[in-house]
Amino acid sequence: MYPPLLVPSLLAGDHANLASSARVVQDLALPWLHVDIMDGHFVPNLSFGPETVAALRRAGISLFFDVHLMLDEPHRYAEAFIKAGASQVSIHIEPAYDHLATLRRIRSLGCKNGIVLNPDTPAAAIEPFLGEVDLVLVMTVQPGFGGQSFRRDVLPKLHRIAAWRRERGLGFRLEVDGGVDLATCAECRSSGADTFVAGTAFFKAADRAAFCRSFASL
Ligand code: DX5
Ligand code: ZN
Repeated sequence: MYPPLLVPSLLAGDHANLASSARVVQDLALPWLHVDIMDGHFVPNLSFGPETVAALRRAGISLFFDVHLMLDEPHRYAEAFIKAGASQVSIHIEPAYDHLATLRRIRSLGCKNGIVLNPDTPAAAIEPFLGEVDLVLVMTVQPGFGGQSFRRDVLPKLHRIAAWRRERGLGFRLEVDGGVDLATCAECRSSGADTFVAGTAFFKAADRAAFCRSFASL
């Protein structure tokens, strides 16, 4: 449905020079940047806040910001990220809050929305929301840290969600995040994913332009 899209994750960039890391992505003509937001509760780590997003915009970064909220209370913070310049805000299904109202609120603020599920969360948990989202993000690692190993056991779930999308004629993007490199990306693509977050594999590549070319030729 969508041509494959490589989405570098800023988490693996240079935290002392985030705008430079974002500019690397922009200069390679990649349209999206994945921005991971962590609260130290939903995941055992901390990363960026709305001010980081606003500062990147002020620094002239015009990329589509694919903001992944790993928060216990995403409904409390979504609007701040949208005001700061998020292009899309994705929220996890696992914490208890009004998911549907939050997804609708994100859209009502003129932003794209997404629903995210952890590796051990069944596809059925997000099924009721499929008609309400621009993106489904399937985590292929337990969220919280970059550089972890890809969870191959998630592939059948990806396949299931892609089948629902096809059967129901829905138009959401299907994104994978965690341990994605050229090899695991190919496996995800065979299972129906079209949008591929790569942190370590992109930023630590010796030649990033070559990495992009290899991705394009997969
Ligand atoms: C993990 C984050 C990912 C992370 C991926 O919690 O959601 O976006 O940046 O990093 P890699 O590609 O290194 O697994
Ligand atoms: Zn992420």
